[in-house]
Amino acid sequence: MLYLCRTEDVAVGEILRVDPPDHVPLAVFNLDGVFHVTDDTCTHGEASLSEGEIDGDLVECPFHAGCFEIATGLPAGAPCTVAIKSYPVVIEDGAIHVKPADG
Ligand code: FES
Repeated sequence: MLYLCRTEDVAVGEILRVDPPDHVPLAVFNLDGVFHVTDDTCTHGEASLSEGEIDGDLVECPFHAGCFEIATGLPAGAPCTVAIKSYPVVIEDGAIHVKPADG
C-alpha cells in the first residue's frame, strides 16, 4: 500500500495533490468526509486537477473546464473523453493509502 497523507490534511471540499516517489502524481479528494483518490493529471492535457474546482461530485479541470466524476474517474464534461485512473482508498488510523498503479 502506498501512503499518501492523513485524513486531516484534506478538509471537506478540498483537493490535495500528493507526489509519491516513483509514482504519477495523485489527487486526494474529500467529498463530505468521503475520500477519493485519482490521478492528478488531466487526460486532456497537462493540467493538475488538484488545482481545479469541486462541483458536486465532479472535478472541473483548471485548463479547459472539462469534468470528471471524482468517485469513478469517468469523463463527465467536454473536452475530456478519457477517464482518469481512480484508486481504491484504504484508511487506517487516519492514514490514507491506495494500492499503487503498478501493483
Ligand atoms: S487539460 Fe484538462 S480539460 Fe484540457
